Amino acid sequence: HKTQVAIMGAGPAGLMLSHLLYRAGIDSTVVEIRSREAISHTVRAGILEAGSVDLLVGSGVDNVLRKGHEHEGTEFRVNGEGHRIDFKGLTGQSVWLYPQNDVFDDLAAQREADGGDVRYSCSETQVSDLLGRPKVQFKDAEGQEWEIEAEMLVGADGSRSHCRVQIPEAERTWYFNEYPFAWFGILTEAPRSAPELIYANSAHGFALISQRTDTMQRMYFQCDPKTNPADWTEEQIWEQLRLRVNGNGFELKEGPVIDKVVLPFRSFVHTPMRYGNLFLAGDAAHTVPPTGAKGLNLALHDVRLLFESLDSYFKTGSSALIDTYSERALDRVWKAQYFSYWMTTLLHTVPTEENHAFFRSRQLGELRSLLESEHGRAYIAECYTGWQGK
Ligand code: DHB
Repeated sequence: HKTQVAIMGAGPAGLMLSHLLYRAGIDSTVVEIRSREAISHTVRAGILEAGSVDLLVGSGVDNVLRKGHEHEGTEFRVNGEGHRIDFKGLTGQSVWLYPQNDVFDDLAAQREADGGDVRYSCSETQVSDLLGRPKVQFKDAEGQEWEIEAEMLVGADGSRSHCRVQIPEAERTWYFNEYPFAWFGILTEAPRSAPELIYANSAHGFALISQRTDTMQRMYFQCDPKTNPADWTEEQIWEQLRLRVNGNGFELKEGPVIDKVVLPFRSFVHTPMRYGNLFLAGDAAHTVPPTGAKGLNLALHDVRLLFESLDSYFKTGSSALIDTYSERALDRVWKAQYFSYWMTTLLHTVPTEENHAFFRSRQLGELRSLLESEHGRAYIAECYTGWQGK
């Protein structure tokens, strides 16, 4: 079997790329080891930058406009006191609350409707010939063996990418940062507690009050990375969230907890994002800590650049754009790495910090100087909404 572009990974990055290539008349095959149901049911982040919404809607995948919610601002709550960041007023931009699961479902349905070649539930995947005509070998869901030969190979296969590790060590650099905490994430059957998201900094640690639907909400609180979610009762979870968020007449709306998960924190970048005819996109090349919800947005930005590069290569034969893909993608990757790291440091408490009293008071000073300044709030808004036009 031959195709122009073989894509490893049918998450939002792989499917978005396959969909854009299809619209440009370029053939692709997507190979994925997880089942469609497993991807659809993995709870991920929920905020799309305007640029991500434009990419989806511009390519005809526009459920987000009907099912999503536009958010023109967010609240930073510091020791129980709320400060609104007015994205729209400060930068003219907004973001959309639309869960990654729905982005996946929309793209998967669109690829299916367009007759796209997407193989879920594959096993024994192997990629080779990265410097020539790349080959992908795998067994499909029925156990049948396949070999696909492609002109270009894309690794959109997530933070534990198999493609990435095929690149010789001497040809790549890995950048890491670890953090001394994680997030405890829940889904709860409750109405919204507030019209917008709340990022809460408190002496008890960070909490984030996000949303899903009228009757389902997503919340997170900072925890020890060794936490086992099964050890936590509903009452213990709500106690932590109340401590960090309630106060000054504000109370969270509580309900049954129907999903519990502990999310590790890590910053990771693989450079360059290309080796021969292999191109990396999304989590396969970089992981950000979740604060600020940059992961999916960054993946979709990679895909936009990679699509333009491959389209130009297939239409004109010029490798000018594919040759600069990595450099152009990394420009935004490092801005997002910086912002995710900074939001994390700004909002979390660091229990192990040696000079803890200094760290906490300095952090509150940083928050006051940002939130009291229109320039400070505008700066947060500009980064959060995705550096539009930059
Ligand atoms: C969500 C996750 C984030 O990391 C964030 O910064 C905002 C929202 C979410 O899951 O809704």
